[in-house]
Amino acid sequence: MSGTLYWMGDAVAFRAGETVAAALRRSGIDDFGPALGELRARYFCGIGSCQACLVSLNGDSLIEACLTPAREGMRLSAALPLAEEHGHE
Ligand code: FES
Repeated sequence: MSGTLYWMGDAVAFRAGETVAAALRRSGIDDFGPALGELRARYFCGIGSCQACLVSLNGDSLIEACLTPAREGMRLSAALPLAEEHGHE
């Protein structure tokens, strides 16, 4: 199923079978926002191993963008504010 998700409030179209990371990158979004250790979140390993692609889903959970299938209406944002709120460093 194709559809629309939202990255930092902006609509991003996705194609059937795409992950969140694939949809974001196809839309020209390579920087997934601030990450721990003053790094920038991004697509890196693509297999759920590095955690570099963590983003916030609907403001209340962290997901691996490289593994999570894109779904209609997902609201995604940078992970760091949520990680700090939960004490991850
Ligand atoms: S890119 Fe490494 S876990 Fe997603």
